[in-house]
Amino acid sequence: MSTAVDYPPGPRGLPVIGNTVALSRDIFAFFEELRDEYGRVASYDVFGTDACMIAHPDAIQQVLLGNHEAFEKGEVLTRNLADAMGEGLFVSGGEQWQNQRSQVQPAFYRERLTTYVPEMRATAAETVDQWHDGMIVDVNDVMTATTMDVLGRTLFGVDVTDHPVVSEASEAMLARFDTSRFWSFLPDRLPTPTNRRYKRKLGELQEFVDELAQQRREQHPENRGDDLLSILVGFVEASDLSQEEFRDNMVTFLFAGHETTALGLTYTFLCLAQHPDEQAALQAELDAVCDETVTAEDLPKLERLDRVIDEALRLYPPVYMFFREAARDVELQGYTIPEGTTLVLPQWAVHRDPAWWDDPEVFRPKRFAGDPDRPEYAYFPFGGGPRHCIGMRFARMEMKTILATVLDTYTFELVSDPNPDLIASTNLKPGGPIEIELHE
Ligand code: HEM
Repeated sequence: MSTAVDYPPGPRGLPVIGNTVALSRDIFAFFEELRDEYGRVASYDVFGTDACMIAHPDAIQQVLLGNHEAFEKGEVLTRNLADAMGEGLFVSGGEQWQNQRSQVQPAFYRERLTTYVPEMRATAAETVDQWHDGMIVDVNDVMTATTMDVLGRTLFGVDVTDHPVVSEASEAMLARFDTSRFWSFLPDRLPTPTNRRYKRKLGELQEFVDELAQQRREQHPENRGDDLLSILVGFVEASDLSQEEFRDNMVTFLFAGHETTALGLTYTFLCLAQHPDEQAALQAELDAVCDETVTAEDLPKLERLDRVIDEALRLYPPVYMFFREAARDVELQGYTIPEGTTLVLPQWAVHRDPAWWDDPEVFRPKRFAGDPDRPEYAYFPFGGGPRHCIGMRFARMEMKTILATVLDTYTFELVSDPNPDLIASTNLKPGGPIEIELHE
């Protein structure tokens, strides 16, 4: 057998700007075309930086799990997110990451998570109480507000709806990283209006989280409870976490913890609204499992709801791609990836690859029933390996609780475009409103 020496094949774009123009025009088509024309491990370049797309499940598994020490979060991510969350769990590496992961883990233990369900359910009920028969709801807007509210109440013990700074900073960040705009690939040191707004809003958010910490410190330790904010404040007081690490983790969880879940819900509504039969089946399941309202004990029994969510996250992965960087030369699928190469793992292209999915464009929750015949990493909406999403169970519980609460009172039909434009920002965002009409 010959040893691999080849660099993965790929197109070569225009001099200097490489494939950046094609990438910013339609990043989804770009990765699908790259996959179909050059294979599941293929190369391209952005502004002269070499990058490789890793879209083969076995290679993805190797990067995230089998050989994970050979890969870092990398320069692209670190550079872009340094100001907002450079010292936080999402960006940090090595020992710093390991310490932080074990510090915050207790907030995400299964037993702890189940205690959040009543609050999730109450927040969802407050949203649904404002609805009425025949009303048209913009689901992304409503779910963004609802998930933000849930996050504030469960992990930080604050009513964030009183503090617009959080949603404003979140919007400014999404605008900053919208890949459909050519300049989002430019360094964020350039004082474009979007970058200036992002910096300003981020500063305001950082002041806000410092105030939250101050208020918590003023409480007696015995009265503080054990939410994520108290956990982090406790480690700062014990000098096991710096002020900067504290702040960056607050920003990390505020960002990572609501937008993605809101999008997961939005796309589940988009799919369900076009499948009245599936809504009816879910309502039958809820009737069979739940007494009055949905409880933490009910959630694991709602298996059909699980499959619907799985399928929506396959078709519309809120995190549609993420990055790694090779810390040394590595071999993947017979190719050599040189040290320093940026790797892109595109959920979008893998979740819609006809090699692993029959009729990939079709919404078919049944594919998640039983023991599916496909490679494990053909599906990775929450990443994988040691750095998999720490909020995965939290997000799934929240999505199920909110959907169960809505379906308890309403069915709904789609009144907006069934194939909405999608924006490749920090997350996969709908380009326009996704609207459903409610039927009580
Ligand atoms: C549907 C909802 C969600 C999706 C699709 C999602 C997706 C992901 C993905 C793909 C990663 C891995 C990124 C990588 O390896 O580079 C990740 C990491 C992370 N997620 Fe989530 N996430 C969701 C919800 C949440 C929630 C609710 C929280 C917090 C409450 C959260 C907090 C985090 C954090 C802190 C990390 C970094 C973990 C580490 O590096 O140790 N996520 N998420």
